[in-house]
Amino acid sequence: MNATSEPRFIPFTHPVELEEDETLQQARNFRDQLQLRRTVRKFSSRIIPEGVIDACLEAAGSAPSGANQQPWHFVVVTDPEIKSRIREAAEEEEKAFYSGRAPQAWLDALAHLGTDEHKEFLETAPALIVIFAKNFDLKSNGQRVKNYYVQESVGIATGMLITALHLCGLSSLTHTPSPMGFLNKLLGRPKNERAFILLVAGYASEDVLVPDIDKKELDEFRTRV
Ligand SMILES: Cc1cc2nc3c(=O)[nH]c(=O)nc-3n(C[C@H](O)[C@H](O)[C@H](O)COP(=O)(O)O)c2cc1C
Repeated sequence: MNATSEPRFIPFTHPVELEEDETLQQARNFRDQLQLRRTVRKFSSRIIPEGVIDACLEAAGSAPSGANQQPWHFVVVTDPEIKSRIREAAEEEEKAFYSGRAPQAWLDALAHLGTDEHKEFLETAPALIVIFAKNFDLKSNGQRVKNYYVQESVGIATGMLITALHLCGLSSLTHTPSPMGFLNKLLGRPKNERAFILLVAGYASEDVLVPDIDKKELDEFRTRV
């Protein structure tokens, strides 16, 4: 990642080679698997096998990013004490959010999900993955290096993480207690990092219910020209 050096190139061959019909099959299989993903808000305390989260994070870390700056940092929280402090702080913010801070239109948009300020999952789920976005990097001499397309890059990496977890049989909840500044403090993250998403990860509780929602049909979100 040295922007001033001469570019160097190496050969690349795509590792997946499929016949035409296999390509379509693969695309449809992947679609079918991803369409089974749901956000859950009730987790079991079942332990995630060692190494799974790190492998999923390595998958996320392979994401494309603006200028390959990889402007993200992931904190994996499994310590019950820290989870409990995160829950306490998140519930405080969420209480304020649901009881006045959020405009009525936002609350109306959320109403069909049945969410409220209670966030038990922050303690029951085995892992909280807090994703931080870095608008700039800090060199060891204190110099700031601006990162480009930070939101887009971290969003893509997060999507890949959610996908990886799902394909391993794990559920996740994309949580965004508003605002999330408390996470920097609780997790001791530096000023150049901003909490982006608090991803709750683990196995769905066996008795979990999910909102009965629809996804748009392809014709509603795709145009061909
Ligand atoms: C950026 C983002 C923020 C979200 N924040 C929250 C949140 O704070 N709390 C929550 O319960 N769900 C949150 N969600 C989950 C959405 O409500 C959920 O993805 C949506 O209702 C669709 O449901 P599905 O994921 O099961 O398809 C968030 C999702 C995204 C992408």
